Amino acid sequence: MSYPYQIRSREAYDEAYKRSIQQPENFWADVASHFHWRRRWDKVLDWNFKEPKVEWFKGAKLNITENCLDRHLEKLGNRPAIIWEPNDPEEYHRILTYKELHNKVCQVANVLKNNGVKKGDRICIYMGMIPELAIAVLACARIGAIHSVIFGGFSAQSIADRLQDAKAEFVITCDGAFRGQKDIPLKSVIDDALVACPFVKRVIVATRTRTPVSMIKGRDVWWEDEIKKIETLGMTDCPAEEMEAEDPLFILYTSGSTGKPKGVVHSSAGYMINTNYSFVNVFQYQPGDIHFCTADIGWITGHSYIVYGPLSAGATTVLFEGVPTYPDAGRLWDIVDKYRVNILYTAPTAIRSLMGFGLGPLQNKDLSSLKVLGSVGEPINEEAWHWFDEHVGKGKCPIVDTWWQTETGSILISNLAGITPAKPSWATLPLPGVQPVLVDENGNELPAGEASGNLCIKFPWPSILRTTYGDHERCRTNYFATYENKYFTGDGALRDAEGNYRITGRVDDVLNVSGHRIGTAEVENAINMHAGVVESAVVGYPHDIKGQGIYAYVIFNGRHGDDQSLTRKDILVTVTRIIGPIAKPDKIQFVSGLPKTRSGKIMRRILRKIAEGEMENLGDTSTLLDPGVVEEIKNGHL
Ligand code: WT7
Repeated sequence: MSYPYQIRSREAYDEAYKRSIQQPENFWADVASHFHWRRRWDKVLDWNFKEPKVEWFKGAKLNITENCLDRHLEKLGNRPAIIWEPNDPEEYHRILTYKELHNKVCQVANVLKNNGVKKGDRICIYMGMIPELAIAVLACARIGAIHSVIFGGFSAQSIADRLQDAKAEFVITCDGAFRGQKDIPLKSVIDDALVACPFVKRVIVATRTRTPVSMIKGRDVWWEDEIKKIETLGMTDCPAEEMEAEDPLFILYTSGSTGKPKGVVHSSAGYMINTNYSFVNVFQYQPGDIHFCTADIGWITGHSYIVYGPLSAGATTVLFEGVPTYPDAGRLWDIVDKYRVNILYTAPTAIRSLMGFGLGPLQNKDLSSLKVLGSVGEPINEEAWHWFDEHVGKGKCPIVDTWWQTETGSILISNLAGITPAKPSWATLPLPGVQPVLVDENGNELPAGEASGNLCIKFPWPSILRTTYGDHERCRTNYFATYENKYFTGDGALRDAEGNYRITGRVDDVLNVSGHRIGTAEVENAINMHAGVVESAVVGYPHDIKGQGIYAYVIFNGRHGDDQSLTRKDILVTVTRIIGPIAKPDKIQFVSGLPKTRSGKIMRRILRKIAEGEMENLGDTSTLLDPGVVEEIKNGHL
């Protein structure tokens, strides 16, 4: 496989960028011409950010799995597509070549058909990081079913909310998942979720942990039995469903500033082109390279840079079941060593947590295969950047700091490894096709050059979200209504004189905890579900490892509450039940009141400062209903 659109020099970047802005349609049509289409497009782009409506490659027909699998079979059939590293390093790893992956995807696609799944149906996937997860995702895409992967750390309640929102009648899960020292009973969580989802017709259960599970007659079937069934039926091949360019490929739920997560919808063609283009250019992937992205497929990073980006490029992608600290803090380095990994893409929170173990775990690990390092999910602080550079990259691997979001589908701002310069803690330059702008509070675009403002994008790129599932108006108000004719990212950013961007973090009520996105309103809703809670307010605060920690101020009614530490635990269990363990507050401070304006609005600015430990300069508190409450909160600060 060759990538004629791979940028190989700084001059080529400048040229590609310029052309992508001056002639975006020609630029993307050229990239798209290197993919496999059943039918070419009538029009490259049609758009307005008012509705919003964005259509790329309208009229074209394709199937993304033909681009990820079939088109590689002839030349790369025996190349490893997926290298799977199990949680337990003693267990044998698995390698799936493109040929084998193709066969398995066809099998499972037939299983889905045989279970009544049709094009356009939504399928929820709740699995651990095993090859069957990638196979399930691709099998959906093969037959045009819309997958919605839910991260294994979400609770039954969260799953039920998502199943209801997506009206999903099918679920694919596992008996359980291994993650570090834990066994997570996935099927049992699904069973709890389904109590509230009687519309779910079929649950397909893959075997992993062999944890005992309930199998409900008429609803639940085993993955392995279903495969045997279609084999008996003689269903082997599974021709790919012909999809329209703009047919939805998947839904992925993500948090916003309201209490309810939204289902971000991505399209088939634009998403494919953009994830492939960014993969090949940002990481400078060369044929034969081993790419290891440590994310979970339950997040957008895993969708784009474990599954679709790498596979559409004929790459070898490592899928790791476990966590970086199990059985010890040298696990990632063992994996790099074992498979001669060339590209390592991970998150600042992982780097910071591994830094805490010192250099011991890096000893006697051969990291000489590494060529490129990548960071994603949150701003990377300089200390972590330099540690990554010195001790992992040994000073010879470019680090790409990739900024993007669930909604953007693929990387929008990043240096290109070894091609455009890195600048520690800066995401640097936009990729070709991306037109970032900074705006001030009044929505005025700031002139080019040094500036600080809210980050917007003023022109569509192929993998921009198309809608939020079932509620297009929500998509409009969330992303396209704050600033006219611009997509608003929710992030603040700085720009230097050379046009480099540094992302400073969210400017809305969204937290970034260990690279996981969580809405403060969501956490508040969950805390408020606890019977003894009168009211709560949640803010973020700087956390050494997680980036941001969750700080909750809680008014408790005092009933059944003579032991504060027990009440705290009850609240944590409540949050775990409602959202999942990832949303558990790090600190809970009991207060008798919250700082409110006369109109009843909580003044979060003050709460944020106190959570940060900043007791002075709380700003103007004169509009507060009861300024005394601030003193009490300051005194009780944890
Ligand atoms: C938010 C999106 C798609 C990546 C995984 C997270 C923050 C992401 C960076 C970066 C600084 C970053 C932003 C963004 N973010 N990458 N390189 N530097 N901040 O996806 O869950 O949709 O979160 O993550 O705040 O808005 P997500």
